[in-house]
Amino acid sequence: MESNPCLLLVVILVVSCSVVQSEAAGKRQSEALGHLYKAKYSMGNLSIDNSLFQAIQHVDTSRFHAQEGLKEKDRIESLPGQPKVEFSQYGGYVTVDESAGRALYYYFAEAQHSKESLPLLLWLNGGPGCSSLSYGAMQELGPFRVYSDGQALYKNRHSWNYAANVLFLESPAGVGFSYSNTTSDYKKSGDKMTAEDNYVFLVNWLERFPEYKDRDFYISGESYAGHYVPQLAHTILYHNNKAKKTIVNLKGILIGNAVINDETDSIGMYSYFGNHALISDEMVQKILKSCDFSPNATSQSDECNQAAEAAGKDTSYINIYNIYGPLCLREGTTANPKKPSLVDFDPCSDYYVYAYLNRPDVQEAIHANVTKLTHDWEPCSDIIPSWSDSPSTIIPLLQEFMANGLRVWLFSGDTDGRVPFTSTQYSINKMKLQVKTEWHPWYVKGEVGGYTQVYKGDLTFATVRGAGHQVPSYQPLRALSLVKHFLDGTPLPDTTRY
Ligand SMILES: *[C@@H]1O[C@H](CO)[C@@H](O)[C@H](O)[C@H]1NC(C)=O
Ligand SMILES: *[C@@H]1O[C@H](CO)[C@@H](O)[C@H](O)[C@H]1NC(C)=O
Ligand SMILES: *[C@@H]1O[C@H](CO)[C@@H](O)[C@H](O)[C@H]1NC(C)=O
Ligand SMILES: *[C@@H]1O[C@H](CO)[C@@H](O)[C@H](O)[C@H]1NC(C)=O
Repeated sequence: MESNPCLLLVVILVVSCSVVQSEAAGKRQSEALGHLYKAKYSMGNLSIDNSLFQAIQHVDTSRFHAQEGLKEKDRIESLPGQPKVEFSQYGGYVTVDESAGRALYYYFAEAQHSKESLPLLLWLNGGPGCSSLSYGAMQELGPFRVYSDGQALYKNRHSWNYAANVLFLESPAGVGFSYSNTTSDYKKSGDKMTAEDNYVFLVNWLERFPEYKDRDFYISGESYAGHYVPQLAHTILYHNNKAKKTIVNLKGILIGNAVINDETDSIGMYSYFGNHALISDEMVQKILKSCDFSPNATSQSDECNQAAEAAGKDTSYINIYNIYGPLCLREGTTANPKKPSLVDFDPCSDYYVYAYLNRPDVQEAIHANVTKLTHDWEPCSDIIPSWSDSPSTIIPLLQEFMANGLRVWLFSGDTDGRVPFTSTQYSINKMKLQVKTEWHPWYVKGEVGGYTQVYKGDLTFATVRGAGHQVPSYQPLRALSLVKHFLDGTPLPDTTRY
């Protein structure tokens, strides 16, 4: 534990490290965001552009390609060790830049039933640098979870493909199986490049799966995808407007425990630490008084750094992504599979997924790593060395979506301390919206699933009770109920008769 690097960081916001470090599983989601903030808030580090996001106005048409015949090639017969299922699965690469040799990997789980009528839902994980296959597909909302021996899969009966056709994308290049043959591309990674490549991916993917072109389309994601989701949505709106036609039939966005506004995200985090008994009230006051979380802050006082370091120490021996949850105390896979449980999420799941997705037979079955990359598959990228741009806020994008009639839902697992519900609430307060439906509990199966408030405009905020940062991992039933209501456009139920 002495070697835990998290304790050494004397920078505000770097409190995101979990106690458990691993060589084998490389970088994990619990570290990626801290690394970015460390760079962003480093004294006078002006190398990360934090100005407002602007859509890429011209996307070279040479990046769009005919996709005939590629869909059938991408069909996955079955994943090694999977139980029998009725829905179809696809996986493969979409080239987003032919001259650089850059391609993004996707996994697509069609709906368990009514795939012709249910919407298309894209899921993105954040990081930056974390894989939607590792977290979204294999640990959160996908149809399967991995047994603790890394050998086989079991069903997730609350998979989101009961509500939609769900597409998981590993982005940007350098994450998971996504790659570039021009490895200097990795140094250019940032929000802009991610949005542009995601957009090019999507238009090409819809060409490959033309039956989904006119389908209602939604984008969802968590954590740093609070940047990716709105930035992709903004890019879609921009190009639909420019072309005066619907290139992508975007209807709404859903983001959870999302990084949306640095200043309120930071204040909300320390407030949460304080009122969840993780740091003292004096410490909260000291941090709020001495730290400057505004986008223009270039340096912090010694008082701020000392207070932030102390707060980091107090929170470093719990998993702040799920403050009441257990830690993974035994790294790696187990010799025999443990009895799986959907209700008690296993904090060592990263290791099981790492073992499974690095198996050559699995990679072959899912059409991944076809170019025999020289690095292994990691839950969060080890090969993206830096991040070039990260706007200090994406609130103007949310306002744009509301003005354009898109459905905008923000949700918060209420036991996440990293991007907690307080951060999201403070960010919403910045928007000065009028309340349409007052705060009330929402229910699923006779219990309170969380609390919700709807704003005029329309924006829905909802908490998910007892869920950490990765909401569908910790509360799969409540998460599925939430996404169903989001996709149906129906308010979360204020009665137990559901
Ligand atoms: C990357 O290079 C490999 C080996 O030359 C090639 O097979 C592959 O098609 C290239 N990838 C892209 C996206 O062009
Ligand atoms: C930050 O700087 C920009 C541009 O210099 C300025 O417009 C803005 O008001 C500043 N914001 C704060 C919070 O000081
Ligand atoms: C790709 O395959 C090679 C050769 O089997 C392997 O060494 C490497 O770890 C794999 N990389 C990824 C990203 O799966
Ligand atoms: C500044 O940010 C860049 C980009 O992430 C990073 O490579 C560099 O190490 C940072 N510099 C300092 C002093 O932290």
